[in-house]
Amino acid sequence: MVQKLLHHIVSNPYVYDRVQQLVGAQLVRQKLSAYLQPIVPDAVIVDLGGGTGNNRDLFSPDQHYICLDNDQLKLKGFREKFPKDSGLRADATRLPLQSNSVGLVLCTAVSHHIPDDSLDSFFSEAIRIIKSEGRFVFLDAVWSPRRLPSRLLWRYDRGSYPRTLEKLQTTLARHGQILDWHTFAVYHRYVIAVVASTRVI
Ligand SMILES: C[S@@+](CC[C@H](N)C(=O)[O-])C[C@H]1O[C@@H](n2cnc3c(N)ncnc32)[C@H](O)[C@@H]1O
Repeated sequence: MVQKLLHHIVSNPYVYDRVQQLVGAQLVRQKLSAYLQPIVPDAVIVDLGGGTGNNRDLFSPDQHYICLDNDQLKLKGFREKFPKDSGLRADATRLPLQSNSVGLVLCTAVSHHIPDDSLDSFFSEAIRIIKSEGRFVFLDAVWSPRRLPSRLLWRYDRGSYPRTLEKLQTTLARHGQILDWHTFAVYHRYVIAVVASTRVI
């Protein structure tokens, strides 16, 4: 009941953004930015489950950024903040985008919303749409029950599928080539993975 009420309140884009600040999202994004530096400046960027576009500021305003999300309310919040950018309502496990067409697919804090039976499609779709020289940059908090802050945060998180590092790594490796794998902690334990397509150029 309390959890349901909290989720309802946090579904408001303004409240959602404030909660993100409270749980250290800015610090996590700073870590992430280092992994985005080598991405070519003219790459089309698709932010999978981009929410209200909190990753938008990691890129320059003239870069072609598409915020893809299946939640209309989040996209409304995104469009209000970034009226010049594109918002796309779609399911990240069935992307309405061409194969081999995107320079960077970014995906932060989304995989724990994806049910087990869709996790393979989620990763395979992300990697299907990147160009041969493109990158899939993935970040999420992981299931790490020995960390008390982590256990508490997972308890109140809307996503129901926190996963171990091992589970994420083995599933990702079925679909792409993991070039970089970095873990760190900001309340939660997190992983950042940089992944390339295994397609032969
Ligand atoms: C915790 S939020 C993260 C938002 C943003 N990536 C960030 O880091 O601030 C998770 C987002 O994933 C979206 N999402 C969950 N399942 C999805 C799916 N199957 N397809 C597209 N978006 C999805 C939710 O609507 C929500 O905006």
